[in-house]
Amino acid sequence: MRVLEIASEAIPFAKTGGLADVAGSLPAALARLGCDVTLVIPAHREALAKGITIEPAGIGFDVPIGERREPARILRARVPGGFDALLVDHPGFFDRPALYGDYPDDAARWMFFARAAAELSARLEAPFDIVHSHDWQAGLVPALLKLLPPVVPAATRTVMTIHNMAYQGSFPAGDMPLTGLDWRYFNWKQMECHDRVNLLKTGIVFADLVTTVSPTYAREIQSSPGGCGLEGVLAQRSGTVAGIVNGIDTVAWNPATDPYLPRPYGATDAAAGKQAAKAMLHARLGSAPPDGRALVAFVGRLAGQKGIGLVVDLLHRLAGSGRARFVVLGAGDAHWEGELSHAAAVHPGAIDVVIGFDEGLAHLVQAAADLFLVPSLYEPCGLTQLYAHRYGTLPVVRATGGLVDTVVDVSPDTVRSGTASGFVFQAVDGSELEQAVLRGLDAHADRDLWDRLVQQVMGLDWSWASSAREYLRLFERTLAEPSLEA
Ligand code: ADP
Ligand code: GLC
Repeated sequence: MRVLEIASEAIPFAKTGGLADVAGSLPAALARLGCDVTLVIPAHREALAKGITIEPAGIGFDVPIGERREPARILRARVPGGFDALLVDHPGFFDRPALYGDYPDDAARWMFFARAAAELSARLEAPFDIVHSHDWQAGLVPALLKLLPPVVPAATRTVMTIHNMAYQGSFPAGDMPLTGLDWRYFNWKQMECHDRVNLLKTGIVFADLVTTVSPTYAREIQSSPGGCGLEGVLAQRSGTVAGIVNGIDTVAWNPATDPYLPRPYGATDAAAGKQAAKAMLHARLGSAPPDGRALVAFVGRLAGQKGIGLVVDLLHRLAGSGRARFVVLGAGDAHWEGELSHAAAVHPGAIDVVIGFDEGLAHLVQAAADLFLVPSLYEPCGLTQLYAHRYGTLPVVRATGGLVDTVVDVSPDTVRSGTASGFVFQAVDGSELEQAVLRGLDAHADRDLWDRLVQQVMGLDWSWASSAREYLRLFERTLAEPSLEA
């Protein structure tokens, strides 16, 4: 099966969050299952500065954007996972310090990207069976392939995967001509939402198959507030909205081989490996060496979604207790950066805050931590709780989205049955998070119980194997069915 994956970011080229992890590792997993996979991403400045061998692919064409024609030059890189990445190069649009940034030309640059990707899907040597769009930046592609025939063969099927309903790519109606599609599609059943062009809605409406990144999130988004206004559109497609939990890249995230750790470890020597990681982390952060207190960590975007307000509240509740140390690594909202730095200043010796995006430090924190906080207000899948498991770190999560599907609360029953994998709390409430963390700290103080929990979570298999098979099964089913009528 020939599969074209389209995303706005992907490891190892450019990353701001979990989408990059998925868009970079799902193609490799599909390739392992025998698919012939190509990935399309923008040639972001970050991607070109990584030192990866990237060469001209010998493909270039103009993309009409409104009255203008913008040149797309295609670059190619062979990714070790066994697939080709094609990078859409347009320095005017993508040679920028940040991947996203509320740029005034966002409509033009992302519509350009989607239109270039759609064009590419028709230009490459052999036709694709599946053209798979991720998130709103690629949401226009299913509509372009359906409405501008015969760009690709009738046998091609389109798939739209939603990683986050809150980001929809909503632009003023006046940007409709940039899509290249007729105004008649600007209606409430297709591309329009609240008088604006909505690219996520477009993808949902026109794709043959719609998926999201966990079964619980697939249910949540079909009603309010999870659907963020698109619940009606999704509910209409409920028969085709599948939820598949993300896999993780078990090579990049492996404590036994991780180059960011001072001492590799597995399930049998996790305590020693984590102790060494703690020592390295604190040395690197310039804070006091490990002192026997448990380490509670948070790594994530400093955005409302992530429950960062609950994290700040927790720091003030527990940092003075002497029972734990805290480390926070994150970048994003300046308000939360300030709140975190303030918490660290008023509780010296208990909290380390690092503002910034640092892949190596994220690995080291996962290895050093005992408890890992994911108190999200909503979470489509979440990857950091899965990385935590692999590194022998117990996640503390709120019961929402993919966190429900991947973490089983520690209780006498689940410990006995060997399924316990973290500490779960229900409400968006500081005292509930505090109670969950205190349960975690109590468990940490019970060496036998803790060793058992660490062994248990390190034995969990979050590799792509079963999730990629699930994608493949859905792709096959979609290919066997007639294409959705536009
Ligand atoms: P989301 O995609 O919503 O941000 P995920 O849990 O799916 O959440 O993925 C987050 C990814 O981004 C993980 O790989 C995590 O380690 C990484 N990450 C988030 N913030 C940082 C940071 N400040 N530094 C390094 N890595 C980060
Ligand atoms: C989004 C979601 C996150 C998910 C990631 C990858 O960024 O917020 O929950 O894990 O996409 O699918």
